[in-house]
Amino acid sequence: MRVAAILTAAGSGRRLGHALPKALVPVAGVTLVVHAARGLAASGAVDEIVVTVPADHRPAFADALGTADLSGVTVTLVVGGATRQASVAAALAGLGPDVDVVLVHDAARALTPPSLVGQVVDAVRGGGRAVVPCLPVTDSLVDVADHEVRPVDRSTLRVVQTPQGFDRALLDRAHAAAGHRAGDERAAATDDASLCAALGEPLTVVPGAAAAFKITTALDLAVAEVLLGQEAS
Ligand code: CTP
Ligand code: MG
Repeated sequence: MRVAAILTAAGSGRRLGHALPKALVPVAGVTLVVHAARGLAASGAVDEIVVTVPADHRPAFADALGTADLSGVTVTLVVGGATRQASVAAALAGLGPDVDVVLVHDAARALTPPSLVGQVVDAVRGGGRAVVPCLPVTDSLVDVADHEVRPVDRSTLRVVQTPQGFDRALLDRAHAAAGHRAGDERAAATDDASLCAALGEPLTVVPGAAAAFKITTALDLAVAEVLLGQEAS
């Protein structure tokens, strides 16, 4: 089985509000995209990494990843699209014919433990065709649709993380079927398991990891800085 990881890093990071694209923002002196790529490589479960990058920052990504120690794992860059879904589709289109397992992972989940990457690949090897790491919801929830406020039972809800792992042929089909949604942020999927579910495919859930949280806001970035500072001391 040849395993390729698509590392999505082509977003601007509007909610973070940094001058740089989010994946180039440093934490503990290292860019988020390099932290994330190192985590994938350190799992020992990934043969190649394809990073989606914003067109106008490609050289900065090439510099950052070119000098990172990634344990010999090959890295290629692909210019991303208007949405995360379009970026993943662009990376998928460039994968070689020998790839049969694809992970899709957010660079914004920069602190994801290598062990989680290994567990997702193991679940695909074990027969899961669309594997998704999940955590329970810890906050209370309400549904505010139609200007009404209704409490929601959180006990059966889960937060979805990455890396998600797929049978390559299934992921190709899922993206082909949803291609018409990819150009518009309001219609595009925010993850890939949901595209497989839309084809009626069952999802395989594995336990997620708290450290795989997505860095979205300035507070998340500060949390990542503290966690990496603790690791170093
Ligand atoms: N991403 C991508 N291509 C896009 C949009 C997002 O590859 N057109 C990537 C981001 O770089 C990120 C991951 O998808 O690693 C998850 O997206 P998100 O956290 O929403 O990042 P951004 O889109 O950059 O942030 P924002 O939505 O706040 O602008
Ligand atoms: Mg986004």
